[in-house]
Amino acid sequence: MTCLVYPIETMSARATAGDATDRLANATDRVANATDRVASLEAAPLLRLRDLSVSFGPGQEVLRRVNLTIDKGEIVGLVGESGSGKTLTALSILGLLPPGARTEEGQIWLDGTDNLLQLDEKQRRQIRARRLAMIFQEPMSALNPVFSLGYQIGEVLRLGGRMDRGQARREARRLLERVAMPDPERRLRSFPHQLSGGQLQRAMIAMALAAGPDLLLADEPTTALDVTVQAQVLELLTDLRSQLGLAVLLITHDLGVVAQCCDRVVVMYSGQVVEEAPVEELFSHPSHPYTRALLDAVPKLDGRDPSFLGIPGRVPEIQALPSGCTFHPRCRVALETCSRSEPDLYSISSIGEAVRGQHHSCRCFLVEDR
Ligand SMILES: Nc1ncnc2c1ncn2[C@@H]1O[C@H](COP(=O)(O)OP(=O)(O)O)[C@@H](O)[C@H]1O
Ligand code: SF4
Ligand SMILES: [Mg+2]
Repeated sequence: MTCLVYPIETMSARATAGDATDRLANATDRVANATDRVASLEAAPLLRLRDLSVSFGPGQEVLRRVNLTIDKGEIVGLVGESGSGKTLTALSILGLLPPGARTEEGQIWLDGTDNLLQLDEKQRRQIRARRLAMIFQEPMSALNPVFSLGYQIGEVLRLGGRMDRGQARREARRLLERVAMPDPERRLRSFPHQLSGGQLQRAMIAMALAAGPDLLLADEPTTALDVTVQAQVLELLTDLRSQLGLAVLLITHDLGVVAQCCDRVVVMYSGQVVEEAPVEELFSHPSHPYTRALLDAVPKLDGRDPSFLGIPGRVPEIQALPSGCTFHPRCRVALETCSRSEPDLYSISSIGEAVRGQHHSCRCFLVEDR
């Protein structure tokens, strides 16, 4: 199972007892250092969700003990089919769960200091306004059709209370330049209906950046865009990460999007995290049968698989989750035990990999003894 062995140099048979003791002490120090570094890495993420559970009432748990971290300047992809709990995870972070939903247990730490779930509504509103921002698939839900872009971005800037109208307008122009909006001066005077889909997305990102957030929650931001514009918006997100150190939680059902711009991937299924890994690791060694099925479901560019119909079966209803591993009715390699027992999230990385931030974990009995 978990490989927590830090490489210790092989001891020569000719080494003296003193040498051996020294080398063992060195090795022990290195293990301790490595463990400290793991602890410090684990202690310092920008955002940490710990065992977050959310429900709509008894027997309707939509998020089940979700653990997730996002480092400063990191782009983390949150993937899974529709209904797996991605949007509710983002709304939990914002403190904007829909009516009827409540947090049953867990913690949400921002910068290791504030457990957001213990703050009152006024404090959460301040965190939302200053440190977090969210963008959606549908930009018109964030933009007001009757005001110009310059006015709307300026209003967000003026909420901070430190800018007059002229300063806000200059800053709005700078933000439109930052998101590579074509002809930003003219666009300041444009109304949302005068913009293309890609320009609307850029405008919404500019609004999101106006308050200078540390973390951008992006919920399917490119799903409605054609492939070329989608690539431009993803490039913009990676540029913003490089230029501003912005962290992004990028929610998508599309692994192609993840491959283009994410550092790490968290895969969700029926309200649980089922696999987590750095992006190259996930694509080269996908371990959960669900992740593998998602990867198989990515349409082949050469069109070799015209018979592809997606993953057989459907994401289960929250009110009627299957027993044991909730993926077992759809899993091609299910074991007998899978319908009876629920697998844990097993770590399948070595401590050295964990130190380098390469942690890989998977919720499946098949990796339990690896
Ligand atoms: N307002 C709501 N009322 C009841 N159930 C909801 C509501 N919003 C989401 N759900 C349920 O929570 C689950 C996860 O939803 P969601 O986070 O929106 O999934 P995703 O974003 O991955 O498609 C789904 O089963 C969905 O039916
Ligand atoms: S635990 Fe069993 S059913 Fe679940 S994914 Fe693994 S093999 Fe499939
Ligand atoms: Mg969603």
